[in-house]
Amino acid sequence: MCGIVGYVGSKQAEAVVVEGLRRLEYRGYDSAGIALVHDGELVWDKRAGKLANLDKALAEDALPASSTGIGHTRWATHGAPTDRNAHPHLGATGRVALVHNGIIENFAVLRDELVAQGHEMLSETDTEVAAHLVECALEDGTTLTEAMQAVCGRLAGAFTLVAVDGRDPDRVVAARRNSPLVVGIGDGENFIASDVAAFIEHTRDALELGQDQVVTITRDDVTVTDFEGRPAQAGSYRPYHVDWDLSAAEKGGFDWFMRKEIHEQPGAITDSMLGRHDAAGALQLDELRITEEELRNVDKIILVGCGTANYAGMVAKYAIEHWTRIPCEVELAHEFRYRDPILTRDTLVVAISQSGETADTLMAIRHAREQRSKVLAICNTNGSTIPRESDAVIYTHAGPEIGVASTKGFMTQLVACYLLGLYLAQVRGTKYGDEIAQVVRELEQMPLHVQRLLDAAEQVNQLARELFSARSVLFLGRHTGFPIALEGALKLKELAYIHAEGFAAGELKHGPIALVEDRLPVFCIVPPQGRDHLHDKMVSGIQEVRARGARTIVLAEEGDEEVTPYADDLIRLPRVPTLLQPMVAVVPLQLFACELATRMGNDVDQPRNLAKSVTVE
Ligand code: AGP
Repeated sequence: MCGIVGYVGSKQAEAVVVEGLRRLEYRGYDSAGIALVHDGELVWDKRAGKLANLDKALAEDALPASSTGIGHTRWATHGAPTDRNAHPHLGATGRVALVHNGIIENFAVLRDELVAQGHEMLSETDTEVAAHLVECALEDGTTLTEAMQAVCGRLAGAFTLVAVDGRDPDRVVAARRNSPLVVGIGDGENFIASDVAAFIEHTRDALELGQDQVVTITRDDVTVTDFEGRPAQAGSYRPYHVDWDLSAAEKGGFDWFMRKEIHEQPGAITDSMLGRHDAAGALQLDELRITEEELRNVDKIILVGCGTANYAGMVAKYAIEHWTRIPCEVELAHEFRYRDPILTRDTLVVAISQSGETADTLMAIRHAREQRSKVLAICNTNGSTIPRESDAVIYTHAGPEIGVASTKGFMTQLVACYLLGLYLAQVRGTKYGDEIAQVVRELEQMPLHVQRLLDAAEQVNQLARELFSARSVLFLGRHTGFPIALEGALKLKELAYIHAEGFAAGELKHGPIALVEDRLPVFCIVPPQGRDHLHDKMVSGIQEVRARGARTIVLAEEGDEEVTPYADDLIRLPRVPTLLQPMVAVVPLQLFACELATRMGNDVDQPRNLAKSVTVE
């Protein structure tokens, strides 16, 4: 939700900032803009639409050389995506340029105050207010750092702000509250960004900032304070080394980041398993900062997340309850705190988030911690806010996920959920060591299974070509297949912009079957054979929709011949246990959505109206 870049160094700031924006464009692509400090004043350009529009404008009319600058790519909140509303915004005299991610909740009051003082506002944004306020604060001889500190104290809401002062060519100042901000530490140059991807080609040394902090970067120095200007306490910000490099942030020959990320899943599973069990299959989650005794006392687990992460939580519920007998609830993070959930010291809240910055999930864990529950984060982004504010964390090791639609992020969330479930079973003695080791061995086989599905991608691609003109697609599943049906439908909505819905197959006859009409494509995820009649009930569901004219696209395990007569299209899944089947069943659905959207000419990595990291509530 908005990408922000700041740079001070010896390179051409325009190139560094624009390249940084390119890597952050997944965060929002309603507009892009840049401001540079040149010869005692600001020069800037900003354009509605994707970064390509700004690129074109800069190619036609280059900005003068500068080694200090800021940039922004926008996901619109206040005001339409127009040139005027694009960031950076300037103060009244044009001395300060400022970019912003988040929402300044009290902007209307501040705006009225400024207008009453004679300020003219040129945009509909909340951001412009901050630019004016910072510039006003500079007037009485303070530094940009002091001005930023003074203004932050007046702002309510969530914000990352980054500003430059045209008269101070060697300084970029940023501030954060409830919104992401990292600092890149270079040699004779320093960076500010929403995400390390923006500066990964220059440095892998980063600084994770704490809440309510202001950071000032110059070429050779980084200073962190609180909003009152006091030096930040040691430990309130944290230096770290990024464990991936530039190649991970590039497409590597694929047409889309999403397709690349789908194909990276075997490696991502392996990396997420690495070092988390011993040779005998016993789990070792060394990074978990909750004691075994605390885990033994847990009497309820609530899994919170949004979108795809919520579906990972739904899968986790089946596995964790089965292995540990601890009751699990799954809740959309944005609904969680508003229903006044019953939380005690013995409730474990598991927050699942790829980005670690999703505001809804962040607010949910804050609520849980206020009620003294323990919070464990499952997260893919080192240095992000959710793990930082949690009692414990299991990092997924998917590497950077840049495509807006989550794929390898989801896959590794599943791995982390399974590891957590098995670890709880081990600590609480609800499963024998050899049973746990057996599941670990099965998990270790998953990269091979997923790879086989990827090798057979052409079958799914062909199907997508055939269904090019579909206007509605349904997905059916039972048990762990149900969240995968929801995930398959979400992928299609996000990327192909067509009506897609996932259902628990048993629910069909209670209403949704009325949607079925001639040739409607219905994906059916069939559970493995031989457990609790689940398989047979699913087969009956397939027959019911087929009898009403649906085109059934059946995902069933190898050797399952019972489904063959009812499948118009049959996608074979490797044989795996029911609880782990989501890891294989989701792959064809990801491939299908990616290919269909490609055929439709949609932007797969940057679907309309969306942003990767939703940092507003
Ligand atoms: C998935 O394809 C989505 N783009 C979206 O649902 C996402 O999973 C959700 O916004 C949660 O994001 P997070 O994992 O970064 O918290």
